[in-house]
Amino acid sequence: MQVEFVASAFVERDFPRESIPEVVLAGRSNVGKSSLINRLANVKGLARTSSTPGKTRSINFYRFDRTFFLVDLPGFGYARVDRGATNEWKRLIENYFRDRSSVSLVIHLVDSRIPPTKLDMALTDWMEFLEAPRLIVATKADKLSGSKKAAQQRAISNAFGGKPVILASAVTGIGCKEIWKRVVECVQASMTRK
Ligand code: GTP
Ligand code: MG
Repeated sequence: MQVEFVASAFVERDFPRESIPEVVLAGRSNVGKSSLINRLANVKGLARTSSTPGKTRSINFYRFDRTFFLVDLPGFGYARVDRGATNEWKRLIENYFRDRSSVSLVIHLVDSRIPPTKLDMALTDWMEFLEAPRLIVATKADKLSGSKKAAQQRAISNAFGGKPVILASAVTGIGCKEIWKRVVECVQASMTRK
């Protein structure tokens, strides 16, 4: 698989002109969006990650096999930056979803160790409003003991009204095969719709 970094957009005019299907990683700050992109691409350091929340501040576009973009969003709910910057990101993300007609799938990342937070629920409501196809992925599953895995998966699924949840880890790679399968299906579906 071939991966290319295409753009890092701080403002709308930096979004790529190219119109190909886009698969977006969304979720709270520090949940592991950028790490999962690196794992899915199998390229260490492709997307920058950090143990401090608020690492990704622009919208980053990575093109896979010249056919679709994986898009890394800044995290939601990072409070330590000043309010002005938070509003900037919010506006940028809102405009992203408004302007890009080619979003094939939103991968909503949540932390597998805790119940979904208010922010996770707010993101869900918004995605439902936008009618964006969505996949819930509970990450950092390497931190869960074997017996806890199934229980957490069920609890998170229940919190999202019974939607399926994929348990994943950017460290061990579990769940990535399933994620790829959904990504490919959604990309192909949006290409045949064109
Ligand atoms: P923002 O860019 O701030 O929105 O964060 P992000 O969602 O992109 O998170 P990032 O990928 O930067 O990861 C945050 C921290 O979690 C880093 O310290 C990662 O090493 C760690 N991390 C991410 N994924 C996993 C995982 O699957 N398992 C474990 N154990 N740690 C992870
Ligand atoms: Mg990030």
